[in-house]
This record gives sequence, structure tokens and C-alpha cells, in this order.
Amino acid sequence: MSIIYNKASKTITLHTRHTSYQMKIGNLDYLLHLYYGPSICDADMSYQVMQYDRGFSGNPYESRNARKFSLDAQPQEFTTQQQGDFRTASIEVVNSDGSYSYHGKAVDFKITKGKYQLETLPCVFAAEGDTVDTLEITLLDAVSKVQVILLYSVFEAADIITRAVKVKNAGIESIHLKKIMSVCLDFLNGSDLDLISLPGRYGQERQVERQRMTHHIHTIGSVRGSSSHQQNPFVMLCDKNATEDYGKCYGFSLMYSGNFLAEAELDQYDQLRLVMGIHPKQFVYEIKPQEVFEGPEVVMAFSEHGFTGLSHLYHDFYRTNLCRSKFVKDVQRPVLINSWEAAFMDFDDVKLVNIAKAAKKMGVDLLVMDDGWFGKRDDDNSSLGDWYVNEKKIKCGLHKLVEQINDLGMKFGIWFEPEMVSEDSELYRAHPEWAMQIPGRHAVRSRNQLALDMSRKDVQDYLIEKVNTILDTANIYYVKWDINRSITDIWSNEMPADKQGEVYHRYILGLYRVMNEIILTHPDILFEGCSGGGGRYDAAMLHYYPQYWVSDNNHPIDRLKLHYGTSFVYPVSTMGAHISDSGKFVPLKTKAVVAMCGTFGYELDATHLTRKEQKLCKEQSDLFRKYYHIIFEGDYYRLSNPFELGNMTAWQHVTKDKTEALLSVVVTNLTCNGPQEYVKAKGLEPNYMYTINNSKEAYSGAALMHAGLPIDREVPEYSSFQFYLKKK
Ligand code: DGJ
Repeated sequence: MSIIYNKASKTITLHTRHTSYQMKIGNLDYLLHLYYGPSICDADMSYQVMQYDRGFSGNPYESRNARKFSLDAQPQEFTTQQQGDFRTASIEVVNSDGSYSYHGKAVDFKITKGKYQLETLPCVFAAEGDTVDTLEITLLDAVSKVQVILLYSVFEAADIITRAVKVKNAGIESIHLKKIMSVCLDFLNGSDLDLISLPGRYGQERQVERQRMTHHIHTIGSVRGSSSHQQNPFVMLCDKNATEDYGKCYGFSLMYSGNFLAEAELDQYDQLRLVMGIHPKQFVYEIKPQEVFEGPEVVMAFSEHGFTGLSHLYHDFYRTNLCRSKFVKDVQRPVLINSWEAAFMDFDDVKLVNIAKAAKKMGVDLLVMDDGWFGKRDDDNSSLGDWYVNEKKIKCGLHKLVEQINDLGMKFGIWFEPEMVSEDSELYRAHPEWAMQIPGRHAVRSRNQLALDMSRKDVQDYLIEKVNTILDTANIYYVKWDINRSITDIWSNEMPADKQGEVYHRYILGLYRVMNEIILTHPDILFEGCSGGGGRYDAAMLHYYPQYWVSDNNHPIDRLKLHYGTSFVYPVSTMGAHISDSGKFVPLKTKAVVAMCGTFGYELDATHLTRKEQKLCKEQSDLFRKYYHIIFEGDYYRLSNPFELGNMTAWQHVTKDKTEALLSVVVTNLTCNGPQEYVKAKGLEPNYMYTINNSKEAYSGAALMHAGLPIDREVPEYSSFQFYLKKK
């Protein structure tokens, strides 16, 4: 059992292979957080927690004259509300009498085998052969009878612990939840930690930012109705001196695609509190008697081996325990060509077939018909919601078009943006009340489209029916699911005035239901997520789709940063990466090398390529297939940081048995007459001898890692190198 209760000390310890996590039912039954970090065997960490009377600290009434006991300084597993802890809180609830208070005390716990489930939200799961144990601990406010149920699952071998929270109203009148954080962790030595997050913007998602902790609340979050381009629901805390290879790192990855919040507060005593969950902005959720509210799951990992160690834990775990699609491990992903940058909305069936014919020569397996095939859509001002084929463009009909593509020996994919509606659409004319707009006000337009009210069951049913119908009319192998605006004008026509604070969250619940229904009815289809590029690239989305479009920015040099940042938590097998016309001065080969750090495909008009270029593409597609097992199943190493000034960016994939590796280098800058550059490999077996690109000579793993490989300087800027290392 990986979860141990010690009756004498009242501690509960969760053990993974290399880590321990400890809590204690402490004074007056408040649940204290004692430890998270490297394994501590069966140590009782209570000795770490000191108590002082520091003045101005509130003491819970039941502690009588014990002035030293203040929740304002004690490390907690889940906070109280209005019990003298002035730091950022896990919960804010308005009780039926109007009071804002929650005094939760541990009243019960149970330890079971297997993974807990959430009924309304996506979760990771136990894969075949995994040993997983679950702790469920109940806190109760004796006055309001509100229960908070804290859930922990321990994935022992994977070094992963997941947390989630449920709030149950066991009272007799409704309560209103205003803030609920899925995780709360208090670190006693907070000033030793830095915070790393993945901020960005459209076209530049998930850039990496590191901050020192100062005495305030550092906030990372999104209030755009989605997890967004601007922030990502992943944060890392790490030692001040942690680097790619050294130092302690803690990761927190939230399984949620809507508004989220992570707060890191360095308090007056240099303790650090980290909370993460649904963003409280415009969030007021009524919980009626006997109802239960579920907060999203947080996947936590800890590594002593720097950023790489932490990334590897997430990569391995998310490759096996997050998405059930058969494309995760049983079926190889196709090399695809997408029509967007080739034609935008200006295409017909003939043009698509011609692109497919040319792409076939490039070794492409699948043609994706992107935006523009439905309703009367010729530009982005109309037709979202009208999910039927525009037969002026697809004159032969969808079925016939797909047949023609299949006859070429290729597969067919299609684009949808189900959550949106154009005002110029049949759907909007029939159901203006289905769009998010506040009565008496004009809704914010973005890309000239409105968001559908996904919280409505009739909207959800409409979308399930429409999308499924299209998917059933032809032999469709792939779906790109897009969303191209942030959500505003939060209002649901179906909800009474006092429940409008539930709409943001209900939107996400509705979205999950729609995706789930469609995906379950079409388990053989490969789904790729997208949000104007890589907005909403989060773990919850990756529960449904095995891959996600990284960014609309296909410039290969920008992509180096995009792939670098994304890889902090998400495996390269999830990263949608294509070769496009973007990057005029970048050789085609370099574009291919960069796109191989992902799902690999094309986003250009294949008919415009010369024969020579098509041939080169064919070679690259074949190489991708040859290296697929290294890229998709191997360990990924960031060998250099593209955010730092340097002459090249390098990365590497190594098979688990270390017999093969693919080391890629892009020369981003060449200083005149500069020093010789060497790229040092990582993750090889020091004693193995490796050939490089099938060379006669072989080099030891130790030499390649410690001395490195010289990179030819006499090459044009933006040249690239791909070294295939094979054990001799
Ligand atoms: C945004 C996506 O990121 C693009 O790839 C493309 O699908 C467009 N939407 C289509 O509108």
C-alpha cells in the first residue's frame, strides 16, 4: 500500500517510488500539510512545524488560551475560511445565513485500491499494470454541515500524485461556493523557491517565464473562458538554483480548460502557499442540500533532477494515463496535409483532390479539409453553426470527395468549430437565444462570431447530432476541433438571474459532454484540438484528443521556442507541428527537422512545390515514419534554451533502452569567425558505442555526452542537422 496511516502520530503518508507526501490530523483536528519531496521513509515530519505567539495572530476559539496555535502560520492541506488564516484560501463559501465561513475539520478518511473518478470532469486513469491507491479524507464544518472531500490518488511507479476536491452540502439549505481550489500546498521554506509558468499570446504560446518569490501573491490564471494562449494551467516551483538537469522541481498541472487560477503566496514568515483551481472570477455556484460540486483534478509531480526530470515524469504519465484514443499507442499517427494555409476558404473539391494528388508524392497519408466547407462560408463572417456541406464548393458531395481521396490511397480529415455561431447563419436566425449575449446589450464580437451557450442541453444535443451526422456520412479518419475566440457576455437564457455565476463552469461541463459523446461514438477517429493555434492547450483537452495544434505560427525559428515551452509538461507526441511556407529564408529541410519535434505534417499548397521539393518532402515524411518510435515513445531532452542568446537550438529524443537517439540542431545565428560549437548529447548509455547516421566509426555515449559533437560552422544560416545515433 502506498498510503500509510500512523495512528500514533495521526499522520498520513503517500509514497511514490521516489517521493513522499505527508499530512497530519493535527491540533483540534485541523488537517496540516507536513511534507512533499524526496522519500522520507516512515519519518514523522511533525517536528518541523513550530508554534509561536507572534502577535496579531488569530487563534481558533477552541484552542482557548493557547495563543501559539494560529492557522495563519500553520501549514495546511486545505484552508479554513475566517479562522484566523489571512493567506489566500482554498475555499470561500457563503452559508445559507449569509455568513462567509468554513471551519473544516478532519472527521473521517478511507484508503482504497484504484483511482478515484470524477463524474463531471475529465481525469487521468490507471493504465494496465498500474498500482494505484486512493485516499479520501473528509473535512466537516460542524455548523453549516458542509463537507469538503479531499481526494488523492497515488501512482506509485510513475511518481505522480493526483488531487481533486468535492464539496458536499450535507446541510438543509443551499450554500453558494465562490472559490474552490483543487490543491493547496504550504512549503515551510518558500523563499528558496522560484515559480515557472508558461505565458504567451496568439502565435507565441507557452513561452517560459521564471520569477523570484517576493512577499505578495503571484497570480497565474485566465479569465478568458478558456485556459487560453496567455497562460497555461501548469506551474512549476523549483529550487532557486534549479536548472535543466539539477535541483528540486514541483509540477502542478490542472485538468481544466476554462478559467483557472494558480496563486503562489510568500507569507510574512517566508512560507509559501500554492493553490490552484477554477478561477473565482464571476464564479458563484449554488450547492443545494445533498448536492456535490466537483473541482478539477491537479496532477502533481516532483523530481530532484531539474526541469528535465520533471518533464519526463509528465511526458511518461500523460502518454499512458491521460487519453484513451487508440492513436496514443496502438495506431501510428498519419502524416497529414492541411488545406488552411494552402487555400484558406478558397477551395472546391477539385482543388482539394489536386492538393491530395501532389501530397501523395510527398509521402502524405491524410488530407485535412480545414475551415470553409460548410454553410455558405467564403470568409469568416458567416455560417458557423450550419454544419452541412456547401455543395457549391464540394460539388461532388462529401461522400464522393472522400472516396476520391481514399482512391488515392489517402485518408480524409475535416475541421469543425462547434462551440461558435455566426450571426449570419441559419442556426443563429433560428436560435438567437443559443448565443451568449446579455439581455439588452450587444455581445462582444471576435472574429465576427459569437460563442454558443454550451451550458444548455439543447445546444449540446444539437452539436452532438450535427457533428455525428457529418462524421457518419463519409469515411472520415481525422477531426480538427477548433475554437477561435475567447468567451465573453457570460449569460445563459436558461438560467435564473441568481445562477448566472455558474455559466462559465457549466460552459466547460457542456463542452466536455459534447466532446465525450462524439469521441465515444467515433473511437476510430483521430481528434486534434486547436484554438486559434495553441490556446486551450491543456491536460483536460489532451484527455479527449491525443494531439493539439501548437500554434498558428509555423515559422520554424519561432517554433523552436514554442516546442521548447510546450515540452515542459506536454509530451511531443501531443504537439501538432507542420511545415508551411512561413520562414522564407529557412531551408525546407530545417522546417522538416523542426516539425519532427511533433506530429509532423504539411500546411501548404503541395501543387506549388517543385518536383525536387516534393521529393525532399517524401524523404522527410519517410524519415519521420522511420524515427516515429524514437520521437513518440522515447525520452525528450531540451539540449539548449532558445530564449537565451546562442548560435543554435538543439534537442534530442532517446529510446527507453538507449539504443537509438535522434539529435536535432538548428543553426539560428552564426557569428562571424566565431568559436567552434559542440552539442552535448544527453540520456545516452556512457558505455555504449554509437554510430552517427550509419557511420563506420562509433563513439561512446560518454564522449557524446561529455565532449559533444562538433557542429559544422560553414553552413548557411538556419541550416539544420539531424544525427541518428544507433548502438553498435
Ligand atoms: C485557427 C486555426 O488555428 C487554423 O489552423 C485554422 O484552422 C483556422 N482557425 C480556420 O479558421
